[in-house]
Parts: sequence; structure tokens; C-alpha cells
Amino acid sequence: MTDQPGSIFWALMRRIHNDNIYAGYIPTCEEDRQGWNSTHQAFEEIIRVMRPSVVIDVGVWKGASTIYLASLMKQNAADGAVIAIDTFLGSVEHWDPNSGFAGLIPHRFGMPLLYEQFLSNVVRSGMHDRIVPLPQTTTIAGSLLSRLGVQAGLIHIDASHEFEDVLRDARLYWDILLPGGFLIGDDYAPDWPGVVRAADLFAEEKHVPLMQSPPKWIVRKPVQ
Ligand SMILES: C[S@@+](CC[C@H](N)C(=O)[O-])C[C@H]1O[C@@H](n2cnc3c(N)ncnc32)[C@H](O)[C@@H]1O
Repeated sequence: MTDQPGSIFWALMRRIHNDNIYAGYIPTCEEDRQGWNSTHQAFEEIIRVMRPSVVIDVGVWKGASTIYLASLMKQNAADGAVIAIDTFLGSVEHWDPNSGFAGLIPHRFGMPLLYEQFLSNVVRSGMHDRIVPLPQTTTIAGSLLSRLGVQAGLIHIDASHEFEDVLRDARLYWDILLPGGFLIGDDYAPDWPGVVRAADLFAEEKHVPLMQSPPKWIVRKPVQ
């Protein structure tokens, strides 16, 4: 079990929540792992080779990518955890009735119930001894992790797809990516011009090659 005192999971859970947030939790939602590009092969390749002990998933929705990342870590490493960051409120496209992504979030009295769905999925998957949820904006979560001295070997960026937001998230999380670590972003595709523009600009700014494993964009932080 990785949730024993002394494990990376437990150290992160204590540092972030000062508590085991799963204690006494019983899933309230049926399993619903709907997501997008959540089990992409780039995750498997990087985790198998790098065996990172800390992974950060930025924009987790109902938990499909987070659960997949955690299960890959379980297959490939003895100890490790995924920090799952999301407001659990949805992105602009999930609220825009004309976007084609509306109607996917259950609400109660106007409030999205994404966190309940996420938590239920995580516990039903059995990966709750490897996943530390951090229900915050990407900006506050990134600043918090930086203050806490948390660094990761793999970071997946899949929150807002607006140009300024993607660029801001990439810059913020690059600072807590370990040297030699990988940053993977989702939706480098014509349907998401803001993502493409931000990824191109970011790679140029950091002087690193932009790799593609469609629709993921991938950059590696130089070792030094
Ligand atoms: C495309 S979905 C993530 C999909 C997920 N990676 C998967 O595999 O299914 C984007 C998520 O980003 C979250 N999000 C958008 N903007 C955010 C922000 N500024 N801070 C935190 N989360 C945000 C939304 O709530 C949404 O759940």
C-alpha cells in the first residue's frame, strides 16, 4: 500500500491537506469516466521510461487522465502520486451553450457537481492511494506547490484552452518541473488555435523543441 506513513502519497496528502481527505468517503456517483485524450500513449511511454515519483495533472474534469496516470505509475514504480488540480467548475466551453461541450456537467442549484463525480471515480478505481486532489485554480495551486517546494517529473496541462491561460499555466508549472522532466499539453490541434499559439510561443521562449504526439504537445526541461 502506498498510503502508509512514509510514502510519497502520504507526504503530499499531509503537506497539502494536513489530513486524509478520503477518510470516511463513500462514492455518491455512478462511474462516469468521460474525458478527452485521457489515455494517450505519450503518458505510457514517458512514465515507463522516466518512472516519475510525482506527477501533476492540471485540469482533471471527471478524473479520467488522473486515474490513467496513477495506474501507469502503479504499474511502473514502487512509490509515487498524482496531484490533481481543478476548480471542478468547468471551462468556458463547458458553459457556452453554443460550443458543443455544454450539458456535460451535472449541476445542483446552479453549482457544478464535478468534484463529487471526480472523487467517486477515483475511489471506485481503487487509485485513491495514489491521487491527491487539489481543488483550486491552476494559478493558486501552482503558487501553493511552489511555496511547499513540490516538484514533479511529469506535468500534464489540460485546463483552460484560452491562449493567455495556456501560456500562463505552462510558465507557472515549468518552474516546478524537475530538470529532465516532461510537460505534456493537450489539444495541439486546429480546433484549439489558442493552445497551438501558446505552445509555439512557450517552446520558443524556453528555447526547447516542441514535440508532437497528436493531439498532445510535449516539451522537455533541459537537465541544466
Ligand atoms: C478539458 S477538461 C480536462 C480533461 C481531463 N484532463 C480528462 O482527461 O478528461 C478541462 C478542465 O480544466 C478545468 N479548468 C479550467 N480552467 C481552470 C482554471 N483556471 N483552474 C483550474 N481548473 C480549470 C475545468 O474545470 C475542466 O475540468
